[in-house]
Amino acid sequence: MEMPRQVFPLVWVLILLGSCMNHVCHGQDYEDDSTPAAPPPEQESCNGIFLTYNFMERIKEYPRIKNASAQAWAFKSQMTVLNAGLEELKAWKVFVGFQHNEILVSAGGAVSIDGEDLPAKVGNNGTTFAGYPQADLKTSIDTAGDINQIQAKIELTGTQFGVKPPGVPMPKTIRLQNDGYKCPAARRRGTNAMLVCCVKDKKHKAKKTKTKFLPRQYGDLTFTYDVLQAYEGNYLAQVTMDNNHPLGRLDHWNLTWEWMRGEFIYSMRGAYTHTKDPSECIYGVAGQYYKDLDFSQVMNCHKKPVIADLPADRANDTKVGKLPYCCRNGTLLPALMDESKSRSVFQLQVYKIPPDMNRTALTPPQRWKIHGVINPEYKCGAPIRVDPTEFPDPSGLQATTLAIASWQVSCNITRPKGKESKCCVSFSAYYNDSIIPCNTCACGCEDTDKCNPKAHPMLLPPEAILVPFANRTAKAKAWAKIKRYPVPNPMPCPDNCGVSINWHINSDYKQGWTARITLFNWDDFPFEDWFTAVQMKKAFPGYEKLYSFNGTKLPQANNTIFFQGIPGMNFLVGETNGSNPLVDPRVPGKQQSVMSFTKKTTPGINILKGDGFPSKVFFNGEECSLPTSIPIRSLGYRFGTNSLPVVVIGIVTFLLMTELFH
Ligand SMILES: *[C@@H]1O[C@H](CO)[C@@H](O)[C@H](O)[C@H]1NC(C)=O
Ligand SMILES: *[C@@H]1O[C@H](CO)[C@@H](O)[C@H](O)[C@H]1NC(C)=O
Ligand SMILES: *[C@@H]1O[C@H](CO)[C@@H](O)[C@H](O)[C@H]1NC(C)=O
Ligand SMILES: *[C@@H]1O[C@H](CO)[C@@H](O)[C@H](O)[C@H]1NC(C)=O
Ligand SMILES: *[C@@H]1O[C@H](CO)[C@@H](O)[C@H](O)[C@H]1NC(C)=O
Ligand SMILES: *[C@@H]1O[C@H](CO)[C@@H](O)[C@H](O)[C@H]1NC(C)=O
Ligand SMILES: *[C@@H]1O[C@H](CO)[C@@H](O)[C@H](O)[C@H]1NC(C)=O
Ligand SMILES: *[C@@H]1O[C@H](CO)[C@@H](O)[C@H](O)[C@H]1NC(C)=O
Ligand SMILES: *[C@@H]1O[C@H](CO)[C@@H](O)[C@H](O)[C@H]1NC(C)=O
Ligand SMILES: *[C@@H]1O[C@H](CO)[C@@H](O)[C@H](O)[C@H]1NC(C)=O
Ligand SMILES: *[C@@H]1O[C@H](CO)[C@@H](O)[C@H](O)[C@H]1NC(C)=O
Ligand SMILES: *[C@@H]1O[C@H](CO)[C@@H](O)[C@H](O)[C@H]1NC(C)=O
Repeated sequence: MEMPRQVFPLVWVLILLGSCMNHVCHGQDYEDDSTPAAPPPEQESCNGIFLTYNFMERIKEYPRIKNASAQAWAFKSQMTVLNAGLEELKAWKVFVGFQHNEILVSAGGAVSIDGEDLPAKVGNNGTTFAGYPQADLKTSIDTAGDINQIQAKIELTGTQFGVKPPGVPMPKTIRLQNDGYKCPAARRRGTNAMLVCCVKDKKHKAKKTKTKFLPRQYGDLTFTYDVLQAYEGNYLAQVTMDNNHPLGRLDHWNLTWEWMRGEFIYSMRGAYTHTKDPSECIYGVAGQYYKDLDFSQVMNCHKKPVIADLPADRANDTKVGKLPYCCRNGTLLPALMDESKSRSVFQLQVYKIPPDMNRTALTPPQRWKIHGVINPEYKCGAPIRVDPTEFPDPSGLQATTLAIASWQVSCNITRPKGKESKCCVSFSAYYNDSIIPCNTCACGCEDTDKCNPKAHPMLLPPEAILVPFANRTAKAKAWAKIKRYPVPNPMPCPDNCGVSINWHINSDYKQGWTARITLFNWDDFPFEDWFTAVQMKKAFPGYEKLYSFNGTKLPQANNTIFFQGIPGMNFLVGETNGSNPLVDPRVPGKQQSVMSFTKKTTPGINILKGDGFPSKVFFNGEECSLPTSIPIRSLGYRFGTNSLPVVVIGIVTFLLMTELFH
């Protein structure tokens, strides 16, 4: 029985109403053969990954309001990801471009990997889903067309605003995010369906892999979750963190993830959790199952545990330490600084609950997130099953032991637009006696009642950057009076940064020039093993030497000079009381050095025009906020290019000098 072609669209509409992709797909194996329903023609002709988004229904939510564009609606929709191609799709990722202020409340069959907890606002920028529990989609060929293995379904519910009926709040687009696939623009089908067929990108050179699972990915920070021992009901996992980015770094990290199958952490080695609260276990399924377990001994029962590194003094503790690469007190350094400290390891004993008591029922936790004090922001993907990690045999024989199962989580550094910094830079130069301070509110402003968060910061006399912002006001006002600068009312808000860096052009002469860099720590805690990186545009090739710090040109990153304190000066102390706290303002921790540059390799460089200022500055991997302008040389200000401005430098140097330049 042939089905007439014209019937197809009608059938598809019916399917949308009933919307069960299951029986649709059964039809495809038996070419038009007596099956009543047929998939959309696009699916029939797709030989890649076929995505659909079907808007199912919505119901008005409270509060009911007159303004239709502000009314909240509860919506339901369903997505399908079908592998209609010849190759298995591993770790699928699908982007949905929500655009109607959607708030996602639940996603069955998938996890949102953009980090936010549900309910999550996804309506501005959309969100990416990864499959859970079905992360991989086999081919029709390998499964004899078993729809359950070749197709994943995502059931979405959420809240959405506006779009008056009969309008349908559809996403802007849907697409597959996996490497090596390309998707045309998604097509609307009727009013409430969207579909797209993504095909293998022929230009994309897939690396030939002989592995059973996906190859390991590069990530600025990667985690490996290795199951080392598996028992009935519980297993031992080891988590390895590797810092792969030249400017990546973490201090006092907190790691969190989400258990998907009711697991809990019985014990840990090399790390601990801040809270030990057994109530979630005792009153939950775990408590019913493990009747005789003493839950007061259990490390952590939270669905989203917060894990922290152990301090170094526990490294030799036979109960919680004694692991290679453990117990760094939450510090992870770039490999350039110390290869051995760019890795951290901890272990955990995970207890499972029915129905996962089977020794082989292993599921890694999802939605990994890591935070630290001053460091870059990391965004992590979903765990991907990779080939088991090989460990050298502990007995020293030339044998390797394989993990039982391994997953990798890859995280990349992101810099969200408009994000507040945690450090800032001020600019100054020998040819101008005013310092351009850090931007107003560079690191955020909470209290803006008495100050102006939008105003430009006031230019300062050199000595003013040595005192806390709160004590600069009088100096700034006096300076403005002398220099006839305007005084905004209300005054500009502070920068509120814990760390600030002054970049001062020290000299400019025929063959070269020098810059002096001073780090200030206004926090009350110290930075051990600090590092700073500056990116220079034109001036980079001329970099010669750094006095009293250890400077290196970064091989991987462009035009970046990386520097750290030499042993003995790698400690940036915190802010302390002045010598007479009643009279003197508090004193920031300081480190200072001078860099010299030659002009031989950078012909045409114009320091007076601003070529000597950095284009980016990082402190401990965190990008610092830069001033929006540079000091200018006014015409009346006379300096020979060969002479050092002894007067200005003299004052600044006298005040800034600590124990340096001996
Ligand atoms: C209706 O709500 C929208 C979105 O909240 C708002 O932009 C608009 O100004 C409102 N219109 C009226 C008439 O209140
Ligand atoms: C959407 O992205 C823009 C720019 O990337 C960002 O400023 C904004 O905060 C994002 N919105 C949400 C809700 O994440
Ligand atoms: C370890 O880190 C904590 C903060 O997370 C800090 O209070 C403590 O002083 C650090 N210990 C050492 C030995 O550095
Ligand atoms: C731990 O033991 C090693 C080797 O015995 C030693 O070098 C190290 O200093 C010890 N660490 C601590 C924190 O005691
Ligand atoms: C300077 O830094 C480089 C790269 O981190 C390192 O190899 C070298 O040992 C350091 N030198 C000193 C004196 O600390
Ligand atoms: C354990 O699970 C595996 C697959 O997950 C299955 O093949 C095996 O039969 C199960 N064993 C028992 C005892 O249930
Ligand atoms: C880590 O978590 C603890 C406890 O919740 C908190 O006190 C600490 O500030 C967190 N540290 C960071 C860097 O977020
Ligand atoms: C991180 O970047 C690498 C390529 O630079 C990419 O392959 C990987 O998928 C990214 N990971 C995440 C979680 O975005
Ligand atoms: C360096 O710059 C080149 C060209 O501008 C760019 O292709 C490359 O990705 C950059 N590398 C890094 C590590 O930023
Ligand atoms: C610093 O000075 C304040 C008073 O200004 C005092 O309360 C505090 O104890 C002092 N701290 C130290 C460490 O001396
Ligand atoms: C510095 O500012 C703080 C906070 O406003 C104030 O308590 C302190 O007295 C000031 N110190 C001096 C020396 O002005
Ligand atoms: C110093 O630079 C500032 C900001 O660029 C400018 O407003 C000021 O006029 C300059 N002062 C002199 C004396 O050149």
